[in-house]
Amino acid sequence: MTLLDRMIVRTLPAVPRPVVRRISERYIAGTELSDACRVVERLNGRGKMATIDVLGEEVTRPDEARAIACEYEDVFQTIDRQHLDSNVSVKLTALGLKLDYELCRENVEIVVNRAAESGNFVRVDMEDSSCTDDTLRLYRDLRDAGHENLGVVLQSRLRRTVDDVRGLAPLQPNVRLCKGIYIEPPELAFQGHEEIRDNYVAALRALLDAGCYVGVATHDDFLVDRARQVVADHGCGSSDYEFQMLLGVRENVADRLVGDGHRLRVYVPYGRRWYEYSMRRLQENPKIAGYIASDTFGRILSVGRDGSNR
Ligand code: FDA
Repeated sequence: MTLLDRMIVRTLPAVPRPVVRRISERYIAGTELSDACRVVERLNGRGKMATIDVLGEEVTRPDEARAIACEYEDVFQTIDRQHLDSNVSVKLTALGLKLDYELCRENVEIVVNRAAESGNFVRVDMEDSSCTDDTLRLYRDLRDAGHENLGVVLQSRLRRTVDDVRGLAPLQPNVRLCKGIYIEPPELAFQGHEEIRDNYVAALRALLDAGCYVGVATHDDFLVDRARQVVADHGCGSSDYEFQMLLGVRENVADRLVGDGHRLRVYVPYGRRWYEYSMRRLQENPKIAGYIASDTFGRILSVGRDGSNR
């Protein structure tokens, strides 16, 4: 994490809201479900699948958590009505994990049951390490209760991840594998770039060995290339895995993967709490602020050079 990243984060609260909004526009579909659906329709038209996330983390009251669970009802209705190729992602803290485990479980079950009515699927995002045990517990509980249309996320930053893969293997979970966005202490997490990559590849191999469907969530060229090799070595067909990327990030890499015949899903967050979401993401991991700043300047320079905004 560079000094520049830290400086960018420290000055963020002083950045006027409209400017933050302008910058986050590429990464967040908008405030309304209709915004998300427009984005998903466009992505589907380019051969990409989507996963829609209703923004809203760390709710403080049970009724807020229930309201978010109920908002997914509208999401599934609209996905069905518009024939969109999209599943959904949920954050357990938005569904009440920090308030009460049972409340959260009920809320996730509402979403999962609604998804099942449409033959759809729910991905439980992974949050910081204070949530890992409860997230995996809830995932197991719901699988034990017979819910099959549910997947989880593992983070290669965490030292425990390959053990978690082994522990979950009998369930053959559908796993999104990512590096992990949260800064974690050295006793829990690898700190070096290379170690996180190595653990990613080890976890990917372990997941495929266990016969799991994997969502390879990364924009890292090195890992994209390694994943392509690993799935080929495992003899996977194109329906045995998918690549996943965040909205607005490295679209050229995503286009190339689709062009080469890989399945690719884009994470599409929307909601009124876009400002809190953007600020928290940036403050949690200043590296992201660095990426966005360099990407934004890169675009400005490219407009300046040839007069177009590609
Ligand atoms: P890396 O950080 O090395 O990025 C590679 C390159 O991609 C960078 O050099 C930069 O060019 C570009 N880039 C990456 N992120 C960018 C950004 N935000 N803006 C602009 N450019 C960016 N994490 C988590 O803890 N729990 C979760 O549930 C999820 N869910 C999730 C879903 C999906 C679909 C994706 C793609 C990612 C997540 N993540 C996540 C985030 C993930 O853990 C990780 O923080 C980011 O993907 C960045 O890591 P990369 O593997 O892309 O590598």
